[in-house]
Amino acid sequence: MPSITVIKTFCRELIAKQSAVRETEPDLVMDDPEKVAAYTSAGREDGVMAPVYLFHCAQICEIIKPGETVLDLGCGPATQLAMVARLNPETHFIGMDLSNEMLDKARDYVAQQNLSNIEFRQGDITQLTTFSDASIDAVMSTVVLHHLPDLDALEKTFTEIKRVLKPGGGLYLVDFGHLKSEKSIQDFAYQYVDRQAELFTLDYLYSLRAAFWPHDFSSLYQKHLSLFGEFYKTFVMPYMMVVKSPARRKPDSALKQQLDTLKLSMPKYHQTDLKDLMIFFKLGGLKSKYLN
Ligand SMILES: C[S@@+](CC[C@H](N)C(=O)[O-])C[C@H]1O[C@@H](n2cnc3c(N)ncnc32)[C@H](O)[C@@H]1O
Repeated sequence: MPSITVIKTFCRELIAKQSAVRETEPDLVMDDPEKVAAYTSAGREDGVMAPVYLFHCAQICEIIKPGETVLDLGCGPATQLAMVARLNPETHFIGMDLSNEMLDKARDYVAQQNLSNIEFRQGDITQLTTFSDASIDAVMSTVVLHHLPDLDALEKTFTEIKRVLKPGGGLYLVDFGHLKSEKSIQDFAYQYVDRQAELFTLDYLYSLRAAFWPHDFSSLYQKHLSLFGEFYKTFVMPYMMVVKSPARRKPDSALKQQLDTLKLSMPKYHQTDLKDLMIFFKLGGLKSKYLN
């Protein structure tokens, strides 16, 4: 059963008129050491974002194959990337971020886990100049695009993704979607205030305010990326939006078992959050092959 906050937000968003406004992130690139530390600890696999990471990890696993090169745009401290890379040891990953502070955290994390299938590059996701045309098998990006200042930057990023991806390549982009009411945004941001650092709560609030409107995001997706995949959003409350290519790997029962183990090792409250996310995405048309 979804939490009271989720149920109330659902009802509010169902009837609300668009009143909130998009406000760009105060830190477009995350390089303030204290904020990076708060984001990193909330994001590590036992943190408040654990269910979100597991959901997207399972989705990303569907669109990549062993032997491929996968580019992660805005990898941050590499929590999501390391989780995917551990489950896909025969895939090579390139994590890109503009923030050296984030990349330092990412390098330490990957070294602690002895992962040898990830390399990092500092760079701007709106200009993938170090990658040639059709050179990448799959592109992933998790909760990054709202950091872009405006729709021009989003369009540049989508154009670059289209340019570097091989024909038939895999794609998984997920980001926050803008909710219609500021009250919904506040309720989501403060829902787990007792489980996380204050700086993380503020970061989440600013992220939800900086999210692109689903109609803007989906029109740019239509223009540039529709050949690669479908657009989805969580049902009624579009707090998350996804562009995902059709599954590209063969059904993999060993992978499913590993993901199940990760799910069952989470505390019950995280399992409940994961279930909610799965329900709202499923109602929006996005199913998960590897989690149930
Ligand atoms: C909220 S974090 C997400 C990190 C990671 N993908 C995750 O799922 O935890 C957003 C990241 O995007 C990076 N970023 C923002 N704008 C960027 C840009 N134009 N090019 C590259 N990285 C950027 C920030 O520095 C930050 O590390």
